[in-house]
Amino acid sequence: MRKKIVAGNWKMNTTVDEGMNLASEIDDYVLDNIDDVKADVILAVPYTHLFVLRALIETENVFIASQNCSEFEKGAYTGEVSVAMLSALGIEYAIIGHSERRQLFGDTSEVILKKMQLLYNNMIMPIFCCGEKLEEREQNNHFNVVEKQIKEVFANISAEQMQNTVIAYEPVWAIGTGKTASPQQAQEMHKHIRNIFAEIYNKQIADDISILYGGSVNAKNAKELFACDDIDGGLVGGASLKADEFITIIKSI
Ligand code: PGA
Repeated sequence: MRKKIVAGNWKMNTTVDEGMNLASEIDDYVLDNIDDVKADVILAVPYTHLFVLRALIETENVFIASQNCSEFEKGAYTGEVSVAMLSALGIEYAIIGHSERRQLFGDTSEVILKKMQLLYNNMIMPIFCCGEKLEEREQNNHFNVVEKQIKEVFANISAEQMQNTVIAYEPVWAIGTGKTASPQQAQEMHKHIRNIFAEIYNKQIADDISILYGGSVNAKNAKELFACDDIDGGLVGGASLKADEFITIIKSI
């Protein structure tokens, strides 16, 4: 049975104090409603927050994640944060290949693969992001683009590693724009993604992968998206910064 997951991607928002308030509201909600919460909740927070938030969280199914990691193991890489450093904090998930990293920071498939290998070696689960740009969808090339993003990386990832991976489909045109993919558009891409993994690995592995939808998920549209067969939860940006709204999204699964 695959896991349901609601993940918040705080991006470069909140100070540590603000982050502590936000995380404890969410943690308290999950702790108080443990029998009703059907998803694991992941908060992907800025590096500066990881240590303190990891210590603050009390609930078993609330996890603190990093939004990135260095592609290098250690050494003279000023400003970088290594996977070993994250692992030493007890971090269990890391977002990898987010479209903002691909577009603004040059995260190619090769870089993404290096980061993922380091994460697997340190028992941290990657949340691998893929998704097409608007012009690629308009040219009806979206299925091919996502397939290429996946195959370039997963051709080099073992079946065992794959079982410790979460996938997030995030159409770039839907991120931070208020334009969500329709449940039908999201479902057909999620099914496509599952078929790609069945082809690379096997049907059982494909059936067990959690595939999250991301891109303007909010309290209003979450329920309909999460009701789709191949959508196992969400990766939520803007709406994860307000405790009430994020909690409503958690309740929608
Ligand atoms: P959004 O961001 O929910 O603000 O569109 C999602 C993401 O980038 O992970």
